[in-house]
Amino acid sequence: MSLYAQAMQRFYDVMQQAKQLPLTYPNAMTVATADAQGRPSARVILLKDADEQGFVFYTNFQSRKGNDLTENPHAALLFYWETLKTQVRVEGHVETVSDAEADAYWQTRPLESRIGAWASNQSQPIDSRQVLESRYAHFAQQFADGNIPRPPHWSGYRLIPQLIEFWEERPFRLHERVCYVKQDGNWTASLLNP
Ligand SMILES: Cc1cc2nc3c(=O)[nH]c(=O)nc-3n(C[C@H](O)[C@H](O)[C@H](O)COP(=O)(O)O)c2cc1C
Repeated sequence: MSLYAQAMQRFYDVMQQAKQLPLTYPNAMTVATADAQGRPSARVILLKDADEQGFVFYTNFQSRKGNDLTENPHAALLFYWETLKTQVRVEGHVETVSDAEADAYWQTRPLESRIGAWASNQSQPIDSRQVLESRYAHFAQQFADGNIPRPPHWSGYRLIPQLIEFWEERPFRLHERVCYVKQDGNWTASLLNP
């Protein structure tokens, strides 16, 4: 098994363990982006898919993070599960998923979430909560037949990793850190000081 495959297998294993925990969102991760000036911002997003192609999440491409990723496609993901005493860091660049992939995921989303995606100009100011609710009502009526197309500005990003680090809590703060890094096309693995 390649080092990258090993790293991904370890990620699948820890995510599998997280899914056994009484958590509403075991797949929640912090996604950090930066704008063209390198100013960072971070928010929680749900991981929807992970395999050797990368880590996929869905969002509004006109949001703040969407603008960041257009200007600067580098991003970092952060997972922490306290019960598992484990932190995972992933860094790389993002690509947009194909329309077919986004459409397939869109169809699995609850009706209300699909209407909500039309109603929300994510990250833009709104005058009041009422404005948002009336936009929701407007789109609920427009798509009353249940046939809700995916908004053109709503899709997925796939983060292609070039670094994956596993941190495990150990006694005396002598935590274990294993860092997989891709350099010149080759993956290496090293232990880091905690
Ligand atoms: C548990 C949780 C899950 C979330 N999942 C998503 C998600 O999958 N996609 C998304 O666009 N925003 C999600 N959000 C909202 C984001 O944190 C954020 O508020 C939103 O995407 C706007 O971020 P931005 O202004 O930096 O673009 C989630 C928030 C929380 C707390």
